[in-house]
Amino acid sequence: MFKDLTYQLAIMEYMLAPMEKITDSSFRSICHKYGADLTFTEQIRFETLVKKTKSALERIRIPDDTPTIIQIMGKDEEKLEQFLKDFSPEGGFKGFNLNLGCPSQSYVRQGIGSAMIKRPTKVKRMVDMIKTYDHNVNVKLRLGVNFTEKKEKVYLKLIEKVEADFFIVHARYRSESYEIKADWSVFPECVETGKAIVANGDIITQEDVEKMKEIGCVGVMIGRTAMNNPLIFGQLRNLKLPSLESVKKEIAELQKQRN
Ligand SMILES: Cc1cc2nc3c(=O)[nH]c(=O)nc-3n(C[C@H](O)[C@H](O)[C@H](O)COP(=O)(O)O)c2cc1C
Repeated sequence: MFKDLTYQLAIMEYMLAPMEKITDSSFRSICHKYGADLTFTEQIRFETLVKKTKSALERIRIPDDTPTIIQIMGKDEEKLEQFLKDFSPEGGFKGFNLNLGCPSQSYVRQGIGSAMIKRPTKVKRMVDMIKTYDHNVNVKLRLGVNFTEKKEKVYLKLIEKVEADFFIVHARYRSESYEIKADWSVFPECVETGKAIVANGDIITQEDVEKMKEIGCVGVMIGRTAMNNPLIFGQLRNLKLPSLESVKKEIAELQKQRN
């Protein structure tokens, strides 16, 4: 499985971003059908998953072969281990993503989400633990909690220290809103670490994708554009596609069947 992923990453991987309340299994399946290589579940804390409630388990359910990464976050390493011990892969499961990008104030106060970017030793331990259970693991991060952390390049220190399959860099720091354009100038130095970098933030057009290829990124991750236009991946790849209206209906139909 790891070999497959590395092979795909050597070309250009098109990834659907995790989006809470949007990227359920139906949305993921249809985005994959029309061009996304890899999809992600929306974030959930592993401290919640170990409670095994129906709603928590539903969030990580993969009912078909759509290539899917389960996104988890949290800080209690014992709970992570407990979750991993009980976890059995299903469907198109391809590995885990550790979310170090969540900007929520309450999570940051608890030291998780984007507050974890400056804790590379802890993140390394968590990534290594996931690997001991024989799972692929990648990391999604912002540039830091604030401008000072960005200036100190906490994101680079993390990428350098942690050994993950790839790093998805959302090129904003925590307190930056979507109105401020993502800072793509950080991507070249991320690529220079020698690690596999997936670019995220305001990537919309084929020119944007070309730019990321030139920089040396192994993939692009697309969020809000896909939310309104699940055909974006196929459009970027020049695939022959049905109408947007019919695809939105297809998602709604699948949601009805699966709920
Ligand atoms: C509605 C919404 C929900 C999101 N939920 C998550 C999430 O669960 N996990 C995560 O890592 N990022 C989440 N994000 C951030 C996106 O994954 C992505 O990093 C961000 O939107 C930037 O990419 P874009 O410019 O292509 O939208 C969310 C974004 C939006 C708009």
